[in-house]
Amino acid sequence: MKIGILGYGSVGKRLAELCTQAGHIVTIGLREPSAITSDLPYVKKSIQEVVLESNILLVAIPFTAAVETLRPFADKLMGTVIVDCTNPLQADWSPLFLGQENSAGEEIQKALPQSKVVKAFNTIFADVMSTAAQQYFSQPITAFIAGNDTAAKQQVIDLAKAIGFAPVDAGDITSSRYLEAMAHLNIKIAVGLGGGTNAAFIYHQKH
Ligand SMILES: NC(=O)c1ccc[n+]([C@@H]2O[C@H](COP(=O)([O-])OP(=O)(O)OC[C@H]3O[C@@H](n4cnc5c(N)ncnc54)[C@H](OP(=O)(O)O)[C@@H]3O)[C@@H](O)[C@H]2O)c1
Repeated sequence: MKIGILGYGSVGKRLAELCTQAGHIVTIGLREPSAITSDLPYVKKSIQEVVLESNILLVAIPFTAAVETLRPFADKLMGTVIVDCTNPLQADWSPLFLGQENSAGEEIQKALPQSKVVKAFNTIFADVMSTAAQQYFSQPITAFIAGNDTAAKQQVIDLAKAIGFAPVDAGDITSSRYLEAMAHLNIKIAVGLGGGTNAAFIYHQKH
């Protein structure tokens, strides 16, 4: 599967490593591809190029930039699975509140009405998005997955499993409200209260 990842920060880099290890071809989309001069183990291209060629597009840029970055490509992204990894945050990582009946995931779905937006990976710290870190924990880290399109959600569930997480179907895209609140809590414990980012949610279910 051709996976495009927008952003090569903490999350983009880690997800690129995990997806590559799982056998996928990853291309990184950057607003200025020439700004990264070091050798990347992935092809780097402009955001436009990556948008046009990816079967599945992981959004790993700040939410505050995501809608304006993606909206111009709304037609080109018709039918594309967009994996929204963002959290609505202010510059100091405190919550950016979008209202009780709204979320970053829903804002991105509204901006791209013909795309299949799936919220995923936003509750997982970049520091634990690696095979080494996944082994700190006695069970796989949970990846909560939410989206309106069942087939797209299943594709992301399969991807999450392939890259070492335990996917949990969290419902439709409105569940982004809860998943983003979980991320706000995660950041508060890790950063605000000093708990650190080598931490993760594990959802236990009795079968
Ligand atoms: N860090 C975590 O543990 C974590 C966990 C889960 C979810 N998230 C979410 O994942 C997203 C990425 O987080 P991160 O920690 O990887 O951030 P980061 O390390 O700051 O990297 C941000 C990336 O986004 C790009 N970017 C910034 N502003 C942009 C713009 N206006 N247009 C296009 N690209 C832009 C940056 O590229 P340039 O080099 O061009 O600036 C960089 O590649 C955020 O939405 C965050 O809330 C983070």
